[in-house]
Amino acid sequence: MHIDRIIDLAQKPEIYSPGTSQMWTDEHVSSQLLATHLSQHTDLASRKETTIRKTVDWILSKSSGEKLDILDLGCGPGLYTEKLAENGHEVTGMDFSANSIRHARKSADDKHLNINYIIQDYLQLEADNRYDVILLIFMDFCVLNPNQHRLLLKNTHRALKPGGKFIFDVLNHGAFNRQMPVGTWEATASGFWKNEPYVALSTAFDYGAEKVRLSQHIIIDSDDDIDVYRFWHSHYSHDDLDAILTENGFHSMEYSEEVIPGCELYDSRDVTFVIGTKK
Ligand SMILES: C[S@@+](CC[C@H](N)C(=O)[O-])C[C@H]1O[C@@H](n2cnc3c(N)ncnc32)[C@H](O)[C@@H]1O
Repeated sequence: MHIDRIIDLAQKPEIYSPGTSQMWTDEHVSSQLLATHLSQHTDLASRKETTIRKTVDWILSKSSGEKLDILDLGCGPGLYTEKLAENGHEVTGMDFSANSIRHARKSADDKHLNINYIIQDYLQLEADNRYDVILLIFMDFCVLNPNQHRLLLKNTHRALKPGGKFIFDVLNHGAFNRQMPVGTWEATASGFWKNEPYVALSTAFDYGAEKVRLSQHIIIDSDDDIDVYRFWHSHYSHDDLDAILTENGFHSMEYSEEVIPGCELYDSRDVTFVIGTKK
């Protein structure tokens, strides 16, 4: 066992230094994640059906009734895109998980829904003046570093029509104050991270001044190969969001902590839904 490397990895890393592996596009992990997205027993990966329905109703209540051109970034298996299409809107879903998009395409076909799905990194969004609404749901904004925020907001702003809305959700300080995850370990013959024996060492580090928390998972298999998964989560106040969105050309920001019910991961009020409008 590469004990020196593991001791090294157990130290608090420099903020935003990357891990070695990407959870969403790993073949084994993404197939585990698809089951998690679809499960009605947990709000991990995607929220439960009743919450998604409530969120879609809220999103649509924020736009006038005509047919909208909507883009869902990080659409996963298409749980929001399908409901939006069922409401008569023109919908595109974008995700870099081929596994999730495969599921989404088949599900849309089965339901005779006309939804455009694109397998792509949403940070590379290139559309111009095209969408009425762009969505980024499940606090995905929180996992981006400041450079990625700027890129996402620049590209999203360009892709919206004038008057178009960027709608996303973030964690606020409530969740961070409530739960400081403790270190855990797991030894298993096969599980979430790998379809072979592994040991997983999980821990978290706080970067208080930057309002960032890292969840880190070190996965060691029987060949002594080590994968490091790092999930950076920022939390935001309305003032933080006002500053970032204004800097990137958005105005008339709206905030709501009333959109979704609480669940095993957070209280209802820990999640802020945000709307920024393009001039
Ligand atoms: C937490 S899941 C949420 C899925 C969906 N929005 C929902 O709430 O049901 C995050 C999704 O974003 C996708 N994703 C993460 N980073 C991405 C990126 N840079 N480009 C495209 N998709 C990304 C993942 O593959 C995953 O499907």
